[in-house]
Amino acid sequence: MKRRSDTIRRRSRIIAALLRWYRNNGRSLSWRNEKDPYRILVSEVMLQQTQVARVSTKYPEFLRKFPTLDRLARARTSEVIRTWRGMGYNNRALRLQKLSKIVVQDFGGKLPENIEDLQGLPGIGRYTAHAVACFAFGQRVPVVDTNVQRILSRLYPQRKVLPILQTAEMWALAEYHLPRTNAHDWNQALMDLGAAICIAAIPRCELCPVKRLCPSAHMKRQRAARPPKREPSRHGIPNRIYRGKAIEVLRDLKPGGSITSSALARRIMPEYTDQDRRWYLLLLQNLERDGLMKLRGRTRISLPD
Ligand code: ADE
Repeated sequence: MKRRSDTIRRRSRIIAALLRWYRNNGRSLSWRNEKDPYRILVSEVMLQQTQVARVSTKYPEFLRKFPTLDRLARARTSEVIRTWRGMGYNNRALRLQKLSKIVVQDFGGKLPENIEDLQGLPGIGRYTAHAVACFAFGQRVPVVDTNVQRILSRLYPQRKVLPILQTAEMWALAEYHLPRTNAHDWNQALMDLGAAICIAAIPRCELCPVKRLCPSAHMKRQRAARPPKREPSRHGIPNRIYRGKAIEVLRDLKPGGSITSSALARRIMPEYTDQDRRWYLLLLQNLERDGLMKLRGRTRISLPD
């Protein structure tokens, strides 16, 4: 039977090896040099669903336009949506602005440090609340995203539990691996390992700093093909893509400009016919409900003010 002291020793070796690797190989990403909690929050919201390379170019632009939380709260929503161009999932821009208004109103303009308070804000889930608590406020807390889950489940392959328990298990395991100091570098190191080496498809174990401590190393098991994501679509294209295209067209209008609903339909779906009308009206309704566009009169559409 494995002794408890072996487990603890292994943990210390994993931590030391990964931190050393990170010191020499960590990516130089502009948000890692930031101290201002607002600026760190912006990076984490952007990174929720957008690749690092894209965020690296959009992040400075967003902060030039909205350098403080207060400036974001006071900005025109249409300007926030315009600045979000190229990022996808535009709802995040709206939620970020909503968050800034709540923080100005309820927290005196300062982001709360408490994880529960953070998680109560729009667009902030468990992951982002922990990321901000650690990276912005220096708290010794785990930060678990899908990359971190993958690394931990390869380091502890015997811990196959029910999927519903898996997330709780992973957070507990991540907490167990937090170094006493330097949680910031540790969490960033896990992200870099997951991005560069312990990747989903075929991990690059030969380059891994913890390969000698990892039971899954060199197994090179191909990931089972994931079934395609089921999402509402039209003519084989997800609604999400049509939504993005519609916002793209509205962004290109001159400030305050609008477009007719039928012109917009043809811009997002060149083969549009009357058969698509019901679907299209629902798409518009949802965009309006989300606050991403505004109906002007009976037929004209624009970005919100
Ligand atoms: N993905 C999410 N947060 C990140 C961060 N701070 N650095 C790199 N990738 C990330």
